[in-house]
Amino acid sequence: MASVSLKNIKKIYPPVAGERKKHQASSDGHNANLEKTERGVVAVQDFSIEIRDKEFVVLVGPSGCGKSTTLRMIAGLEEITEGQLYIDGKLVNELDPKDRDIAMVFQNYALYPHMTVYDNMAFALKKRTSSKEEIDKKVKEAAVILGITDYLDRKPKSLSGGQRQRVAIGRAIVRNPKCMLMDEPLSNLDAKLRNQMRAELIRLRKKIDTTFIYVTHDQTEAMTLGDRIVVMKDGFVQQIGTPKEVFDKPSNQFVAGFIGTPQMNFFQADLKEEHGQFSVDLDGFTIPVVHEDNSRMKANNIASGPIILGLRPDSLFLVESKDCPVANVGVVEMMGTNVHLHLEYNGKDLILVTQAKDEHQHLKMDYESDSEIHFSFLPQSMYLFDIETGKNLAI
Ligand SMILES: Nc1ncnc2c1ncn2[C@@H]1O[C@H](COP(=O)(O)OP(=O)(O)OP(=O)(O)O)[C@@H](O)[C@H]1O
Ligand SMILES: [Mg+2]
Repeated sequence: MASVSLKNIKKIYPPVAGERKKHQASSDGHNANLEKTERGVVAVQDFSIEIRDKEFVVLVGPSGCGKSTTLRMIAGLEEITEGQLYIDGKLVNELDPKDRDIAMVFQNYALYPHMTVYDNMAFALKKRTSSKEEIDKKVKEAAVILGITDYLDRKPKSLSGGQRQRVAIGRAIVRNPKCMLMDEPLSNLDAKLRNQMRAELIRLRKKIDTTFIYVTHDQTEAMTLGDRIVVMKDGFVQQIGTPKEVFDKPSNQFVAGFIGTPQMNFFQADLKEEHGQFSVDLDGFTIPVVHEDNSRMKANNIASGPIILGLRPDSLFLVESKDCPVANVGVVEMMGTNVHLHLEYNGKDLILVTQAKDEHQHLKMDYESDSEIHFSFLPQSMYLFDIETGKNLAI
């Protein structure tokens, strides 16, 4: 158990002699948007957060945004270029990884192939001169928590991916660490197993008293596991909040597009103001801004003009009225409970999610490709963003 506090953490990877070329070559790849300084590429900057004792914090963001770098700095595997890291109030920037009382679980669980499951888990404890009885007790307790008691005598190669991942987690929890760091621990598992392990992590978390910092690029994992989520992009924190906060009140267009599936739809629209009341004009279809957002936008001194309108796919609905925006049906995806309609609207792709069955439990599948439909949405489902900065105008 521990609180973990990051204050203005920054990581600059200096250019490595001989590797310069490689980095330049990759600069048009996924780190193209990272800031580059004379000292090197800035992988993480301005990262500040106070993580409470026993809190479960998830770092999420696209590939290359600096998640693993941040985690590795907390673990002590990567030097912190600037800023301070405190564990339980103690500055630990210079502390050796082994003295930080932190355990880390990686994506490629890296078990020792020649050792049994039992020995893999006991190994970390043996190095710490625990007594044989104590080691035995801790390994068996962890095995019960993770449901791997039956495999203790097996070698990793005779285990499934999910079982191996459980052993890797077991190896971390026997040490009873103050803080558990996990870097995409489920990404090697197939979708079904990943769902199952996700639920197990939620249970595990209730059984062991520790602080979790968890890295993933999967927004569903972030939403379901995290007490709080840190959304990152290009080395910068975009937003820190509860799953509900980042979903309901995304700080900007990036967060809005990243959190939620299918992705939020974005439209170019016009913001208008009359007698202190804002409204949004989407190609001649006018929708008033709800009172709460209207007040905040006035307080933020928002000016009328072009904006980005965001609408989640399940907040669009089909209507008969010919006065509403019109779109063409493209692909129709039957997902079970829902149907995803891929629409073309003014040359842009849109997704509309609708229930597969009507209120009488009859399948509504009369969506023909190329047919025209009209759609609408409620004022309270609108998200409004600055057209240049992407900032949410109503927070
Ligand atoms: N040792 C290193 N030297 C130089 N640059 C590095 C090094 N390690 C990582 N980087 C760069 O720092 C940036 C952040 O990398 P990081 O591994 O933290 O990303 P990530 O968010 O974990 O991505 P992914 O989801 O792909 O694992 C990337 O652009 C990466 O290329
Ligand atoms: Mg990573």
